[in-house]
Amino acid sequence: MELPPRPKLFDFHGVSMTNYFTDNWDNVQNFQARPDDILIATYPKAGTTWVSYILDLLYFGQTAPERQRPIFEKVPFLELFISLYPPGVEVLDNLTTSPRLIKTHLPVQLLPKSFWEQNCRIVYVARNAKDNAVSYFHFDRMNQAEPEPGDWNNYLQRFMDGKMVFGSWYDHVKGWWEKKQTHSKILYLFYEDMFEDTGRELDRLCSFLGLSPSAEEKERVRGGVQFDTMKKNSMANYSTDPIMDFKISPFMRKGKVGDWKNHFTVAQSEQFDEDYKKKMEITQLRFRTTI
Ligand code: PPS
Repeated sequence: MELPPRPKLFDFHGVSMTNYFTDNWDNVQNFQARPDDILIATYPKAGTTWVSYILDLLYFGQTAPERQRPIFEKVPFLELFISLYPPGVEVLDNLTTSPRLIKTHLPVQLLPKSFWEQNCRIVYVARNAKDNAVSYFHFDRMNQAEPEPGDWNNYLQRFMDGKMVFGSWYDHVKGWWEKKQTHSKILYLFYEDMFEDTGRELDRLCSFLGLSPSAEEKERVRGGVQFDTMKKNSMANYSTDPIMDFKISPFMRKGKVGDWKNHFTVAQSEQFDEDYKKKMEITQLRFRTTI
């Protein structure tokens, strides 16, 4: 199987992107959402797969094992357009499940308007910038569909400059946070909260979605989405995705809060914090970098 070449970053409506997420743009923008669609929106590496699998188990957990499919097929990636896979929009148009669970990394201003028109529920997950940057770095090393990451120091500078696929982390988390202030159908979750108490966040999710699973069912979901369990689960760990080279780094890598401490030098951390303060000073949005 021929893997696609590593793409180049370019400016797209003010956001750094690659052609793998813009080549199908008209169809993405004209995507017809349905009122019961549930959108999982994140900056890359913030916990998308974790929340996707939670929702998949909550809605379709009773599905017979032989009908199990990898999470990236069950929760299609709206804007994905790479020769190796069917386009996200096409998969979604043909998806017969109800609700449809949909993944996107689009910043809020680029979301297709039908999601707002249909008043769909949206679960946004955010992760602290330092761990997010580290996770993204290792992902870009092992994923042929991402631009060449280069070394960590340059990568971190690029992250601070917002020159990443799907743009600036700072703009992404702030943009969705601002939207949430006036839009009741957005649940804004934090990776760190899910890590601290998955059961509590599961309750928040269920209440947002209007679901009332039994205590037994909830416990089954909570157990199924623990990092070690998901890492071993070939339907959840991306091991069947040919574009990723697990010899370089696994998709389910560490699954921790605070792994950034193993990557940032003291100088990098100080410089990052100083820059962070400037970029985040006009928002109430607060993250935890340790627990
Ligand atoms: S993607 O490619 O954007 O969809 O990636 P995404 O799923 O958003 O993020 C991957 C990171 O999430 C971690 N992960 C988890 N952490 C804790 N518990 C569970 N169950 C879990 N599932 C996924 C995954 O390990 C990646 O983080 P890092 O820090 O690289 O380990």
